[in-house]
Amino acid sequence: MSGSIVILISGSGSNMQAIIDAVDAGDISGHISAVISNRPDAFGLERAQAAGIHTEVLDHTEFKSREIFDLNLIRKIDDFEPDLVILAGFMRILTPDFVRRYSGKMINIHPSLLPKYQGLHTHKRAIEAGDKEHGASVHFVTEELDGGPVFIQASVPVKESDTPEALATRVLTQEHKIFPIAIKWFMEGRVQLENGIPHMDGVSLEGRVPRLHAELSEE
Ligand code: GRF
Repeated sequence: MSGSIVILISGSGSNMQAIIDAVDAGDISGHISAVISNRPDAFGLERAQAAGIHTEVLDHTEFKSREIFDLNLIRKIDDFEPDLVILAGFMRILTPDFVRRYSGKMINIHPSLLPKYQGLHTHKRAIEAGDKEHGASVHFVTEELDGGPVFIQASVPVKESDTPEALATRVLTQEHKIFPIAIKWFMEGRVQLENGIPHMDGVSLEGRVPRLHAELSEE
């Protein structure tokens, strides 16, 4: 039996779709056991159902506290005995207990070249700072929001005329490329977290994170 993957979403689920497509194409050795959303109206739920994947909703507004929500989420996730938990646009701050439970086997995608621009509004912030390049990062999840160790990135050029929306679209196209690659590497056991440092094929990635460089001609 191939490895079990659980994906958490809150919204559109376009990254989740890229992962579904890569699993269907046989690029990722694993199966998606469940997609769980904290929002009942997330469009990603429809996408997952259309792909025949089991979906669950755990509406955070129905819980008294973040701690209680996260405990219930752990119970739901653990039903599927995941080898990997993927945050694909899951817009929640996680409790330390939740993060610790999936240490070394939970990853997130963030739309910036981390450690730059943790948090929200990354595209606007990159434009306002006059950055010439922007991008996305896949990282292991730690207690620091968007602060965990990165193991693959993609960069895109920033145009003079860019709006945050245009830049976000350009970055998202690259997210859909690097997230499936990251998951493929993890499920093959090629990428692992060792003492808080990501390793690829046993070699530390500290200071040498693989990075895809996209050109404007790719648009
Ligand atoms: C992506 O930009 C991702 O980097 C961020 O949230 C967005 C989710 O988009 N964490 P989608 O739901 O995958 O379409």
